[in-house]
Amino acid sequence: MVVAIDGPAGAGKSTVARAVADALGFTYLDSGAMYRCVGLVAREQDRPPAEVAPELRIELGERVLCDGRDVTDAIRTPEASEAASRAAADPAVRRAVVEQQRRIVAHGDWVAEGRDIGTVVAPDAAVKVFLTASPEERARRRAAQLGADVRTVLQEQAIRDQRDTTREHSPLVAAPDAVQLDTTGLTLDEVIARVAALVDAVR
Ligand code: DC
Repeated sequence: MVVAIDGPAGAGKSTVARAVADALGFTYLDSGAMYRCVGLVAREQDRPPAEVAPELRIELGERVLCDGRDVTDAIRTPEASEAASRAAADPAVRRAVVEQQRRIVAHGDWVAEGRDIGTVVAPDAAVKVFLTASPEERARRRAAQLGADVRTVLQEQAIRDQRDTTREHSPLVAAPDAVQLDTTGLTLDEVIARVAALVDAVR
């Protein structure tokens, strides 16, 4: 079965999705890492992301590998985030990446995290959660993670949010049947418990 966790950057998706996957014994899928790989390689090779996406061999696990190269840290820089957001706005890139993601979650038990898991990648997911938090809280969390300045993160986040929510193809929207969960002011344990309860209810 698939547990879909979607929402904007910094809402706590990765931390929550990893923890829920651990708690349930499911496998975690970081769908954003795939757009980050495409963005990074396109930027490095100065090629259109749509040309890179279909041929890139991405391996997700403890480390993230692109064509065998460990890019775990390289895909997390602000430049890579920007390149990922641009790549993810291209419908040809999305087609190639979504096709791989659908193949990945077709068998087994998954907690898949991203922007379009519940709407596009796995519309039949057994559980759909749309995680949110206030922009300030999201920027604060991300800045702490990166060791960066909150105001700079907030500004960059606003630009990416705008692009992610207004792009023509698969904009960031909650699936109509997703449970909206605002994590502002909640502890990680509280959020995990709420998601785990949703999964328990359908098992
Ligand atoms: O979740 P993240 O910050 O690692 O995602 C990187 C970029 O990819 C971000 O701009 C949103 C985009 N993305 C997407 O469009 N669809 C997904 N399923 C996951 C991420």
